[in-house]
Amino acid sequence: MRLHYIVEAQEFNRAMLEELFDIAGEMEHVVWEGGSKLLDGKIMASLFYEESTRTRFSFETAMLRQGGSVISTENARQFSSVSKGETLEDTIRIMNGYADVIVMRHYESGAARRAADVSRVPIINAGDGTGQHPTQAFLDLYTIQKELGRLDELDIAVVGDLANGRTARSLCYLLAKYRNIRIHLVAPEVVRMRQDIKEYLARHDVWFQEETNLRAIIGQVDVVYQTRIQKERFGDRADDYRAAQGVYVIDREMVERMKPASIVMHPLPRVDEITVEVDSDRRAAYFRQAQNGLYIRMALLAGCLGKDLQRQPSEVQFSGN
Ligand code: CP
Repeated sequence: MRLHYIVEAQEFNRAMLEELFDIAGEMEHVVWEGGSKLLDGKIMASLFYEESTRTRFSFETAMLRQGGSVISTENARQFSSVSKGETLEDTIRIMNGYADVIVMRHYESGAARRAADVSRVPIINAGDGTGQHPTQAFLDLYTIQKELGRLDELDIAVVGDLANGRTARSLCYLLAKYRNIRIHLVAPEVVRMRQDIKEYLARHDVWFQEETNLRAIIGQVDVVYQTRIQKERFGDRADDYRAAQGVYVIDREMVERMKPASIVMHPLPRVDEITVEVDSDRRAAYFRQAQNGLYIRMALLAGCLGKDLQRQPSEVQFSGN
């Protein structure tokens, strides 16, 4: 069965993730060899209602590297007919007539599900408000596997804006599928991880703990997954933003406390939560992580439009499970 909608990370099971990572590995070779024609004649619409550098350009590159074509708008909120009052559902129905796959980023949590509900062509969630960012979580796991050689038996600190961070949320859903995972949720008080994720982890018997002292645990973890405090999500809560900003910073002194065989990740963009002096440390994996996004997104598009990925519906866990 081909991949169709990619809306929530937890819809993927371990078998699907393993196959996805195998295909992503093949895509690395495809890129080194100058690309393929696998998606020749296929068209991807990138419909981004929020800003993006990595997700949008890596999806567009993923399509072009496989011989496909891209239609897109700079800023769908301003330059699509949504500015005239068109609904998301109508926009998706119209785009169905033009594109073979729609990659969508939206400012509202749940928007990708709404789009998928009315779409005949695959919808790929490229981030929906403070909801999820499943393709980021896939590339995050792929990076951990490449860097550390395993996805079971991990001790990971997920740090920063966990209330608004859709990448951290999607990552937690996926980590719950692996064995002997320990998750330290390290967040300022005003942006602690929301209850739904904590309940999901508890329901799936995943060890997790909320922490405030990153320095105390940084020496024991395999992965520090740092995230940005998302100023744009605070609205008029300027005091809350000031309380959260700058609390957890990974600098050279912090990295030197980490195990030699550990890594620092970040979905990016960063502001000042990882200092630039860390970039030259071998443990700084965040630029390699962003590069892996291309290979994962090539594999996902191939799964939606070309190459089959095996889906095992009995193992698929949808939200609420
Ligand atoms: N990680 C990520 O989603 O980056 P962009 O916002 O630049 O796409």
